[in-house]
Amino acid sequence: MSTPHIEAEPGAFAELVLLPGDPLRAEQIADSFFDDVVRVNSVRNMYGFTGTYRGRRVSVMGSGMGMPSLLIYTTELIQQYGVKRVVRIGTCGSVSEKLRVGDLFLAHAAGTDSNVNRIRFQGYDLGASASFELLHRVYREAQRKAIPVQVGSVFSTDIFYTADSSLVELLQNFNYLGVEMESAALYGLAMQEGFQALTVLTASDHLLSHESVPSEVRQNAPERAVRLVLDGLLFDDQPG
Ligand code: HPA
Repeated sequence: MSTPHIEAEPGAFAELVLLPGDPLRAEQIADSFFDDVVRVNSVRNMYGFTGTYRGRRVSVMGSGMGMPSLLIYTTELIQQYGVKRVVRIGTCGSVSEKLRVGDLFLAHAAGTDSNVNRIRFQGYDLGASASFELLHRVYREAQRKAIPVQVGSVFSTDIFYTADSSLVELLQNFNYLGVEMESAALYGLAMQEGFQALTVLTASDHLLSHESVPSEVRQNAPERAVRLVLDGLLFDDQPG
């Protein structure tokens, strides 16, 4: 079996898939965190890998940038490969004084300027939200490791180079924490398909102060996010 965009065999993906935007980031995550790594997809260079982390099976694959690309890959992972939990690992622009560059951010809800969820939900406003279980586990893991994380709403935009300069102020006024380009679609699909989804973001730039993350933080922050997610989600037997 293969799908139009994934050439993997049935069963090639683990139940938990980490989903960075960049396929080379997926390769880097597999190389640094997984043992017994197998590359399971390279169609369009959208690399996917399965391996083990401390003995537990796990996969990582690129989603590409933006909601249409993420929806193609995630829909196929869920419908054709039996994936149950998807965690997007990404970066965002901060629109809040509470979220400094380099900070980690768990997105409990996602608004959007895209129509993806209205198309899906017959024109109504979908309350696109993360899996509470995944959010709770990753948050608890961060507390256990004393790693500061923010929890709040993210805005998923279709236009990176937007001409709408009032958007950042609007989002700040409504207490959003960050802007990226994928989570609303991921959460909408998860609600319809009944799988668990979460987005873990690192603020890579600040849209109020125009500060950018130093390069060593840009390198390390996704690593911190990956370790939190793997330790928090793959070991169900840890005391609460
Ligand atoms: N806008 C949209 N997506 C992003 C940004 C941004 O400023 N920063 C990182 N991803």
